[in-house]
Amino acid sequence: MGIRVLVIGGGGREHAIVWKLRQSEIVDSVICSPGNAGIEGIADCFPVPVSDLEGLVELARSERIDLVVVGPEDPLAAGIADLLTDAGIPVAGPSAAAARIEASKSFAKEIMIAAAVPTARSITVTKRDAGIDAIREFGGDGPVVIKVDGLAAGKGVVVAANAAEAIGALDAFLVDRTMGLAGSSVVIEEFLEGPEVSVLALTDGTTIYPLTPSCDYKRALDEDKGPNTGGMGAYTPTRLVDDAMLQRIQTTILQPVIDEMARRDTPMRGVLYAGLIMTTDGPQVLEFNARFGDPETQVVLPTLESDLGILLEAVAKGSLAHVPAPVASGAAVGVILASGGYPSSYGKGMPIAGLDAAADEDMILFHAGTAKNNDGVVVTNGGRVLTVVGLGETIAAARERAYTAANGITFDGLQRREDIALREA
Ligand code: AMP
Ligand code: GLY
Repeated sequence: MGIRVLVIGGGGREHAIVWKLRQSEIVDSVICSPGNAGIEGIADCFPVPVSDLEGLVELARSERIDLVVVGPEDPLAAGIADLLTDAGIPVAGPSAAAARIEASKSFAKEIMIAAAVPTARSITVTKRDAGIDAIREFGGDGPVVIKVDGLAAGKGVVVAANAAEAIGALDAFLVDRTMGLAGSSVVIEEFLEGPEVSVLALTDGTTIYPLTPSCDYKRALDEDKGPNTGGMGAYTPTRLVDDAMLQRIQTTILQPVIDEMARRDTPMRGVLYAGLIMTTDGPQVLEFNARFGDPETQVVLPTLESDLGILLEAVAKGSLAHVPAPVASGAAVGVILASGGYPSSYGKGMPIAGLDAAADEDMILFHAGTAKNNDGVVVTNGGRVLTVVGLGETIAAARERAYTAANGITFDGLQRREDIALREA
């Protein structure tokens, strides 16, 4: 008898997690809440929203769930893992105390300083005057980075070109509270330069296993122009991180952070996502997340050869050292099909054509913002609608397949980037 797994969330990331868990030899069944029109095709979906923590615990109990996997950060920061643990239900996801590594940028900095992990120099301020001093100290008249301390769904970071812009951002966050309470303290940080890489690592609080590094594309338009989004595409692996570099990241960043969190009695159990910038002085940490990245997970899991069910059960039970480290092969490129107007306002309910044609063994279609209308037609239901993932031996082959498949899918207003993975193809 295998285990029953509940995946919490309803985006492309959760579709990829459900898809991969269904291939696990220890998993009997996977359910999801709330899911989406794509997840519905491969798992029973329940309508409990990710904000209803008690409802989710009740769902896990009534469905006799053996393992819960939490997708998004909000329920983690609100303590879903603590509630599940109290209810005796194993969970691959950190306690609220450990999720602070994502939910509080100043806490993340504190951990990194204590663990001597390379990261931009920074000062956390709650007063405008101190902020202006810090902007002068780190930026002079050049670039400097302003971040709200709390969770802001990717909207809490301004890379300012000069002091005037930086002070504008400081005032917006700290004085005008444009990000609400998340901006009641603000981190002022030195500007770093280099390409960015995401490393998602599985950890049980003691052992940490990195998955293959990946790169995501945050800007809406080609050549990294336009506004920041939740992600317009991703690819894996990347030439930016070879085996020796990954080993260096493991010993100078991942393991020290895990050790420091354990030392503080807030062990990190789940996914530690390191957002890195590869500077001429080596890899430095831009941010940590306490969960799988989106869209990175949608390319990393399809190239993972190991059994995700076995790995995540070991994460939840603290026995990761007893299962083999993950192995991966090949390349994957994910192109996001978004609604016209995203990330600002966009319409919903546009019928999607070409979903059936897009099935072939070298590609996978993950749903993000989709729903079924009253006639059973799959329609757009969010900013990011679908991710078309192409697979191949090389990035070039995977990229070709992703775009060929993407060309077959249409809906009113569809927007996508044409340059995903181009720099490594
Ligand atoms: P974060 O949410 O902290 O990862 O920041 C979002 C984005 O802002 C990153 O992906 C970078 O592109 C940029 N960024 C953040 N911190 C810095 C920094 N210290 N120097 C340069 N760019 C940064
Ligand atoms: N790919 C960015 C994130 O998941 O936060």
